[in-house]
Amino acid sequence: MYVCICHALNDKKVKAALDKGATNPASVFRHHQCQVKCGKCVPMMRSMAAEHQAVLAQQAACHPTPVPEPANADAVPAALPVYAVAAE
Ligand code: FES
Repeated sequence: MYVCICHALNDKKVKAALDKGATNPASVFRHHQCQVKCGKCVPMMRSMAAEHQAVLAQQAACHPTPVPEPANADAVPAALPVYAVAAE
């Protein structure tokens, strides 16, 4: 399905731009090295970008990135010493 008639951008080309990091119609055009002409495709591209961002956010929520170990993780003792508190 054609999304942008002026530049012959179909939904696959728009999706490819979104997969490569485009987040809005301007960045989709930039990805394909063109500029908006008539602008009739912008609302459709905007909704495709919003839908793509929602899917990415949902995937990030399901698969959070693990927190990396600090570089000096092996320098920290496994069990810290327990200090007694003097009772009065
Ligand atoms: S349809 Fe995309 S700029 Fe005209």
